[in-house]
Amino acid sequence: MAKIINLVLVLSLLLVVASEGQFLVNEILKPPATLKCESVYGVKSGDTCFEIAETFNVPTEFFDSINPNLNCTALFVGQWVCLNGTLS
Ligand SMILES: *[C@@H]1O[C@H](CO)[C@@H](O)[C@H](O)[C@H]1NC(C)=O
Ligand SMILES: *[C@@H]1O[C@H](CO)[C@@H](O)[C@H](O)[C@H]1NC(C)=O
Repeated sequence: MAKIINLVLVLSLLLVVASEGQFLVNEILKPPATLKCESVYGVKSGDTCFEIAETFNVPTEFFDSINPNLNCTALFVGQWVCLNGTLS
């Protein structure tokens, strides 16, 4: 009886290890998206993300995707925003 319980414990441990291994493999095989910014704009006084995107005809969703770390409520003059680029 004790042996069976041990076997169950070992098997469930293996299962946990195996699924964590799979998780790690997935994390390693999936490279983080790298962004190559091809054109930038320096923020001027009074600019907003919306106006910049509008002015340069950049769809909002694309603008967000090429500026993943941009905080639009904390834009500052002289900050570079990406206007076009490739995500891979
Ligand atoms: C963006 O900036 C505002 C104002 O400084 C701040 O309150 C907010 O937490 C920031 N958001 C992020 C996601 O950093
Ligand atoms: C963005 O860059 C690509 C590749 O350089 C170009 O084909 C495309 O026209 C550009 N888009 C805009 C909105 O400038």
